[in-house]
Amino acid sequence: MLNLEKMLTEIDQINTYKHFGKVQRVVGIMIESAGPEANVGEVCYIHAKSNGRNPTIAEVVGFNNEKIILMPYSEVAEIGPGCLVEATGRPLSIQVGKGLIGNVVNSLGEPLDESSLPSGLSNYVTEQAPPNPLSRPPISEPIQVGVKAIDTMLTVGKGQRIGIFAGSGVGKSTLLGMIARNSEADINIIALIGERGREVREFIDNDLGQEGLKKSIVVVATSDQPALMRIKGAYTATAISEYFRDLGYKVNLMMDSVTRFAMAQREVGLAAGEPPTTKGYTPSVFATLPKLLERTGTNERGSITAFYTVLVDGDDMNEPIADTVRGILDGHFVMERELAERGQYPAINILKSISRVMKQIASSKHQDVAQQIRSLMATYEQNRELIQIGAYKRGTDQEIDKAITYQTNIQDFLKQGVHDSYTFDESIKEMEELLNGGGAQ
Ligand SMILES: Nc1ncnc2c1ncn2[C@@H]1O[C@H](COP(=O)(O)OP(=O)(O)OP(=O)(O)O)[C@@H](O)[C@H]1O
Ligand SMILES: [Mg+2]
Repeated sequence: MLNLEKMLTEIDQINTYKHFGKVQRVVGIMIESAGPEANVGEVCYIHAKSNGRNPTIAEVVGFNNEKIILMPYSEVAEIGPGCLVEATGRPLSIQVGKGLIGNVVNSLGEPLDESSLPSGLSNYVTEQAPPNPLSRPPISEPIQVGVKAIDTMLTVGKGQRIGIFAGSGVGKSTLLGMIARNSEADINIIALIGERGREVREFIDNDLGQEGLKKSIVVVATSDQPALMRIKGAYTATAISEYFRDLGYKVNLMMDSVTRFAMAQREVGLAAGEPPTTKGYTPSVFATLPKLLERTGTNERGSITAFYTVLVDGDDMNEPIADTVRGILDGHFVMERELAERGQYPAINILKSISRVMKQIASSKHQDVAQQIRSLMATYEQNRELIQIGAYKRGTDQEIDKAITYQTNIQDFLKQGVHDSYTFDESIKEMEELLNGGGAQ
């Protein structure tokens, strides 16, 4: 009875009018239409004139006097003056649930292989507000990443957000794949934003592999897709992570790359008439980044440990996106070509990298040993040139002698083959033995 009443009131309240507008102008990727009444962020269908064609899905991105400005999620085809624009009254939502695990989906949450979605999924709006800062538990325990160099020297906390700063081809995708396979997280959500199609296949087949895919959901928005789809890919992956965080899961979110997300946002901003600022990035890029990156981390139910890759040309860590992202996150790992060229994989420059929560989560003994190794590495690095040209004479300085003695062992310890995996405890034990056991020579 109660149900019937509820349904009757719902029927009373239902909006039986469809809201339509008409396309008036298309400039580049922007579509201007007179009506319908719709809010920014709302999804609209643009109906083609010829029957039988699927409508183009678009989103309201702005207004101009009485006109609304839309941007399509797909390529614009068969849109002409007077095409009908139908408002849905809703922002973009996706279907999400446990059935999605092991799947590869696009930015709208649809399977990439065009199969159908499993049943039992629920609707979830992709743009959400970050958790209330006061309801966020502080990061208090480490999470095993399964990469020795990280677990020992740059310990990551459950719910920490890390930026991985690297140029092209230094091993980002390989590292993300290793983390996905080796970490103790319950589930990986992997967002591939703005990659080439070929790289997506390679990542899924080689870096992630069957073993990794079993506990992952991959969201893909390749570089050839419209800018809005690349932006949505980041939101969709974040929304899926939030869904699982609310179920109490330990979630890993990996986004490759946040730079490509920023570039897509710049494309949309410029098309919408925003002024370009540093390096052509528009103000909305800098307003959007914190909104996206603040959504991950801990909440009262679970945690999203997030890894965002940032592309840096050369060594330019002060490039505007790198600089902004570094300021928002709780740590950054710097990967360097020079190390990769020496075969030092994973090519993380420990001395330039930092995990800002390591102090809160690692035992004092662990921190102590890590600090000793760090200072040996720093001493060696400061004197590298002298040592390598043979200008340093052993016995001149005790610290330098010690750094030279340990250098090879430290480097070997930090190396890890793609398919080697270590538990957190194994890595810590090996690190402690490194100093106890003495140097190689
Ligand atoms: N741990 C490792 N051990 C051995 N080789 C590695 C390791 N990590 C990366 N490599 C080598 O580095 C190459 C490039 O790695 P990867 O594709 O992960 O880089 P990337 O930074 O993702 O590149 P891109 O910028 O093109 O996306 C790999 O083909 C592999 O040969
Ligand atoms: Mg890559």
